[in-house]
Amino acid sequence: MSIRMFNFRAFVLVGLVTVTMLASLVQPATAGEKDKIGRIIAPVPLNLKGKSHSLVFQGSYLVNAASGCNDCHTNPSYAPGYDPFQGEEELINTAHYLAGGRHFGPTLVSPNITPDSEGKPAGLTRAEFIQLMRTGHDPHDGHILQVMPWPIFRKLTDRDLSSIYEYLRAIPHAEPGP
Ligand code: HEC
Repeated sequence: MSIRMFNFRAFVLVGLVTVTMLASLVQPATAGEKDKIGRIIAPVPLNLKGKSHSLVFQGSYLVNAASGCNDCHTNPSYAPGYDPFQGEEELINTAHYLAGGRHFGPTLVSPNITPDSEGKPAGLTRAEFIQLMRTGHDPHDGHILQVMPWPIFRKLTDRDLSSIYEYLRAIPHAEPGP
């Protein structure tokens, strides 16, 4: 083998090793960061028993940092005197967190998506929830959800949708605000 050829191979090898090392450094850090933020920003105590902690925290990250579920499914979204839209410090309305009751027009009200007495968020199984988020069809009666931005949510991965479901399973049951 010529020296030049050897140098070239060594160069490629060093390059591959470097890329692999960088990739292994970057990927777990990213997933870990979402877990960490998700754990910190969950506004209510979580029931983690029998659940994948990582999946719950990633669901929290998606629900509380990216999807605006609280804006439509909590009434009102913020505790009195703590509404960032009024220039106030932020405090989420934990007493009614994700329990629905927000009006959109004269007839449409956001439903309660906290766990029911069987622990199912909005009374939905995981498969029903994923189907609803993917198709916008409510499995209770088949109507197409209005207002709810499911055409955006349906582009999430199965794992992301599953993590949202897992998070909703972990939050406490609540009743809608007045
Ligand atoms: C822009 C407001 C808005 C946002 C954001 C939003 N929703 Fe909704 N959602 C609604 C409304 C309104 C309905 C009822 C729509 C209808 O029945 O036509 C609904 C319905 C649902 C239902 C159906 C429940 C049932 O009993 O049929 C689920 C589940 C749900 N939303 C979950 C979520 C989750 C999880 C998020 C965040 C990832 C979210 N929503 C974000 C407004 C919203």
